[in-house]
Amino acid sequence: MTVTIVGSQLGDEGKGGVVDLWGDAADVVARYQGGDNAGHTVVEDGTEYKLSLVPSGAVRGKVGVLGNGCVVNPSTLFEEIDDLRERGLDPDVRVAKRAHVILPYHRVLDGIEEEAKSESDQEVGTTGRGIGPTYEDKAGRRGLRIADLLDPEVLREKLEYVVPQKQRLAEEVFGVETGEEFDIASLYEEYRRYGERLAENDMAVDAGEFLANRLDDGDEVMFEGAQGTLIDIDHGNYPYVTSSNPTAGGASTGTGLSPGIVGGGEVVGIVKGYLTRVGSGPLPTELGGVVGDTPGYDEQGEGDNEELATYIREEGGEYGTVTGRPRRVGWLDMPMLRHSARANGFTGLAVNHIDVLAGLDEVKVGHSYDLNGEEVFTMPATTERWHDCEPNFKTFEGWDDVDWAEVADEGYDAIPENARAYLEYISDELDADIYAVGLGPGREETVVVENPLE
Ligand code: GDP
Ligand code: IMO
Ligand code: MG
Repeated sequence: MTVTIVGSQLGDEGKGGVVDLWGDAADVVARYQGGDNAGHTVVEDGTEYKLSLVPSGAVRGKVGVLGNGCVVNPSTLFEEIDDLRERGLDPDVRVAKRAHVILPYHRVLDGIEEEAKSESDQEVGTTGRGIGPTYEDKAGRRGLRIADLLDPEVLREKLEYVVPQKQRLAEEVFGVETGEEFDIASLYEEYRRYGERLAENDMAVDAGEFLANRLDDGDEVMFEGAQGTLIDIDHGNYPYVTSSNPTAGGASTGTGLSPGIVGGGEVVGIVKGYLTRVGSGPLPTELGGVVGDTPGYDEQGEGDNEELATYIREEGGEYGTVTGRPRRVGWLDMPMLRHSARANGFTGLAVNHIDVLAGLDEVKVGHSYDLNGEEVFTMPATTERWHDCEPNFKTFEGWDDVDWAEVADEGYDAIPENARAYLEYISDELDADIYAVGLGPGREETVVVENPLE
C-alpha cells in the first residue's frame, strides 16, 4: 500500500520527521514534486539531518526515489549524498528519467526576477533555488530532463537551443550581465559528468515502472510531499506559491502511479499546531511580522502580539531550514485547514509542535473569517480577498510544559487535557483521525496513535 504525506499549511509542518517516524515500516520513500527548496529535518538519537533532495527515508536506510514531478539540481543532490555518506549513512537514491534538471542559469533567473519584482513590492520571497524558472521551462517544452544528461548528443543539442535564449532574456530584457552560468561548453561538460555518475550508479529509472514493480512485490511505499497546500501552484495563494503541486494529486502525476493507487492508500495531513510562513503573501492569523516578508510590515511597526510571535519563533526554532530566514508566525487557521482537507482528502492527521505552545495562558485558533461582514468557513479563491479576511478567534485554555519524552512514552492519554481538547477540535473540524502528535523534534518525542503502514 501507499501512504502520502502532505503539508497541510505553508510548508515546514514537520513532514520529514513524520516520514522518519513511520519510515521503519516502509520500503521505499518517494518525493513527487519540488526540489532543493525543501528542507526536511529528521532527528535520530539527538543527531539532526537536514535533507533537501534525498528523501527522508534515507536516515533509516530506505530506498529513495525522486519522481518525475521533481526538479533536480544534480550538484546539490550529489553533494547531499556525499555529505550523508560522510556521516555514516548509505543513501540509495533513484531519480526519474522524466524529472527536470535545474541548471545554474535557473538560479540566476530566479534571483533576477525576484529583484525585478521587488521594485514594485511583488517579490514572492523564493528560496532562490531556481525552482520557478525550471518548472517554467518544463511547461515551455524547453527543459532538460534527467535522461538528457545520459545522452551527450541530446544534452548538447538542447543546451544549444535554450542557453542563448536565456542569456538574451537576462541581458536584453532584464539588463543583467551574465557569466559562466550561461556558458554552453562548461555547462555541457559539468552536466555530462553528472549523467555519467547517474549511469555508473544505476540511479536513473522510469519512476512509475520502478514503483509499480516494488508495489507488485508487496513493498510499502511512502510519498513524501514537500512544501504545503497553501503554496501549491493551483490550490495555494497564488502568486505567493511554489511552482509545483504539493497536494495529494501530485503524488500520482509526480510519480507515474495512478490516482487509484494514491487514493487507495492513506493520505496523511501534517499540521503544525500554529502557523509559520517563509516569504511573502497574506497570513490573516499572523501574530507579529518579519520585515521584508510580511506585506506592508515596514510601515506597520510592531503589532500587539509581537512578543508572542517572537516567543513562539524562539521556542520552535522557527528559522528557515534552507535559507535561515526567520519564519513568520501566526495562530492556527481553520478555514485554511478546511480548504486543505478538501483538496487532499486526509484520511489521518499528524499534529506537531504541541510542546512549543505549552506554557501559554491561552491558545487561539482562527475558527472562521469575517469577509465583508459575512462569516466564511473556508478560504476565498483569490489572494486579494484572503488578505481582506479577518479571523474570528476561538480560544482554548493553555497547557503546562511537562516532560514530553515521558508523555510520548506513555501515549495519547498522557497528553495534558487542554492539549487533547485542542487536538480533538482539529480532528473534528477536519473529519480525520489523529494518527500522531509531535511533542518535540526527536523521533521518540512523538505519540503514535496509529501507524498507517502497520
Ligand atoms: P518539513 O519541511 O515539513 O519537513 O519541516 P522542517 O524540518 O522544515 O521544520 C520543522 C522543524 O520542527 C524541524 O526543526 C523539526 O525538527 C521540528 N519539529 C518537528 N516536529 C516537532 C514537534 O512536534 N515539536 C518541536 N518542538 N519541533 C518539531
Ligand atoms: P518544505 O518542504 C516553506 C516558499 C518560499 C517562497 C515560495 C516560493 O521544507 O516544507 P520557491 O523557491 O519554491 O520558488 O519559493 O515557497 N517555500 C517554502 N516554504 N517550506 C518549504 O519547503 C518551502 N519551499 C518553498 O519561501 O515563499
Ligand atoms: Mg522544511
